Amino acid sequence: MSIIPLRYAVIGAGNISATHLSAIATQPNVELVGISDPVDTARWRPLGEYETAPKFNDPEKMLSETKPDLVSICTPNKFHAALSILALKHGANVACEKPMAMTLAEAEAMEAARAAADKLGSINFSYRNLAAFRFARELIASGDLGKLLRVQCVYLQSFLGAPATPYSWRNDVSIAGFGALGDLGIHMIDGVRFVTGLDYKRVVGTAQTLVLEKADAKGTMHKVTTDTNAAWLSELDGGVVSTFETSQVAPGFGNFFRIEISGDRGTLAIRSDSPEDIWLFAGASMTRYATWITDLPQQKIPTAFVSDCKPITPGGIAQVMRGEQVDFPTFADGVHAQRMLSAIGVSMQTNAWQTLG
Ligand SMILES: NC(=O)c1ccc[n+]([C@@H]2O[C@H](COP(=O)([O-])OP(=O)(O)OC[C@H]3O[C@@H](n4cnc5c(N)ncnc54)[C@H](O)[C@@H]3O)[C@@H](O)[C@H]2O)c1
Repeated sequence: MSIIPLRYAVIGAGNISATHLSAIATQPNVELVGISDPVDTARWRPLGEYETAPKFNDPEKMLSETKPDLVSICTPNKFHAALSILALKHGANVACEKPMAMTLAEAEAMEAARAAADKLGSINFSYRNLAAFRFARELIASGDLGKLLRVQCVYLQSFLGAPATPYSWRNDVSIAGFGALGDLGIHMIDGVRFVTGLDYKRVVGTAQTLVLEKADAKGTMHKVTTDTNAAWLSELDGGVVSTFETSQVAPGFGNFFRIEISGDRGTLAIRSDSPEDIWLFAGASMTRYATWITDLPQQKIPTAFVSDCKPITPGGIAQVMRGEQVDFPTFADGVHAQRMLSAIGVSMQTNAWQTLG
């Protein structure tokens, strides 16, 4: 069977563009027609095997001249909405980074533009690729945990607290929109929804900036205007109470994302740093009796499940464009997550629970 050819382009040539290029430009019959970044090309991150790709400083010029079928948006958050809508107007499908946008209104405008253009849009909720997340989702969907009762989710990093980490756009609320809340919290919001299959009903939250200033690479001090820490309490479908905590300044935690879920027939826990394991205590025969010793044994996820776990983002959209069935995270999923970010923000301003639609 012949594979439909795809013309592919990337906007934003920084760190995450490497992930998009290796997931999409390497697929069969994909032609990398351009990469665009406003920085002088001499100062771009080395592109390795993609060094010979046509380089642009103006995304509109690239889109007009190269007419891609699919565009990855890999820029700082402030530019996601305008560039996604621009790419859609030029007839491309869009693989956008997270968080989808700076505001809920922007995210909704992106989804409206996608629907009007009749194209596909994906958001790179990358933890959906992990075997642990998908195995937990399957266990819960098949009822192995019984009726869900509680969720606890933490996502901790330390990098921003380290004095050696220079100030960047990630610390500027006018470009990043959020700190830990949008950078890590968005993965938590989507991750819990993906694994449990439940939607959020209401939320109350708070956020803090615990590192107040940082030096840039030249030693100049800047005020940190994004949150470094956030916590929220939410209720999912069926009244399931869930607690969330995230930090970018928790010493000792490199990239620690953990979700723990209990139902009336068991408890499971999954961790980003152990993606092929699950901590699981489950089954009616186990939970019929009270347990007085904590016993959540770490177990290997079956190797057949792990080897079957092909990544669904950011490359799944390209596969779907060519007729494959891949359940990738869509713009609609991005809007769901953005609605929670927005509701947490309003709850902080009003000191009150916010109800989601
Ligand atoms: N899915 C994930 O797990 C994950 C991981 C890391 C980063 N990200 C997301 O990826 C995005 C980029 O992060 P990064 O770490 O690659 O940042 P980065 O700073 O390494 O790269 C951003 C690039 O965008 C360029 N840029 C800035 N404004 C632009 C514009 N208007 N048009 C085109 N290019 C522009 C910059 O020059 C830079 O090269 C962010 O939204 C971030 O949240 C997601």
